[in-house]
Amino acid sequence: MRKNIVAGNWKMNKNLTETGDLIGELKLKLKSYTGHTEVIIAPAFTNLFYAFEELRQTAIKVAAQNMHQENNGAYTGEVSADMLKSIGIDTVILGHSERRAYFNETDAILAEKVNAALENGMTIIFCFGEKLEERKSNQHFEVVAEQLSKALFHLSEEQWKNLILAYEPVWAIGTGETATPEQAQEMHAFIRKQIADQYSADMANEVSILYGGSVKPNNAAELFSNPDVDGGLIGGASLDSESFVSIVNAFE
Ligand code: G3P
Repeated sequence: MRKNIVAGNWKMNKNLTETGDLIGELKLKLKSYTGHTEVIIAPAFTNLFYAFEELRQTAIKVAAQNMHQENNGAYTGEVSADMLKSIGIDTVILGHSERRAYFNETDAILAEKVNAALENGMTIIFCFGEKLEERKSNQHFEVVAEQLSKALFHLSEEQWKNLILAYEPVWAIGTGETATPEQAQEMHAFIRKQIADQYSADMANEVSILYGGSVKPNNAAELFSNPDVDGGLIGGASLDSESFVSIVNAFE
């Protein structure tokens, strides 16, 4: 079901003590929050269980930043969906550009991860987006369409109910070069049209499409005011409680 979502991708930041401090600030700042925006944070693996326990009595959901496509086996250093579910985590970010770039996660591997997450009843925040050179050469629509079709278009309409999309132009991640509201709306509308063409307009209108890439308190409201932008996947600004809560309130 389509909803407004603000999710914080903490990436490889915050040890256990720092995680406790930030979670404590978020609990305080959001305890009287009455808005309708779903709030999610994604700490590092080592802090997931602690975060889940600390936030289980709150509306703040906890997500993992990745998972392996197998449920168990000889995959040193990896974490499976089954392990995440066993500590209460039922939401996972997949396909982040940093995973694609640094860990060679291809569309095919991501399709396997998506299947494994869905088989384990998880909700997926699926990331995709073009590189700077692809936008400069006007290939961004082709690239995004391919990323979507190769990793997701084998799924049924029912399976799409567990998907949240996050369009993250790589050139905007961590750079301060935020996509303009017009660029974001144009691509989000394109994404929704791709889904409508593959499935149906009704189904496409039920998909939450988040924007990620240098979302900050001073640009969130304008980005989120667009008809096809359903919220944000926040990196740097999610590591500061004041900034993150300001972005959550950007919908109100
Ligand atoms: O997953 C969200 C992240 O990639 C965006 O990072 O720092 O540009 O908000 P940032």
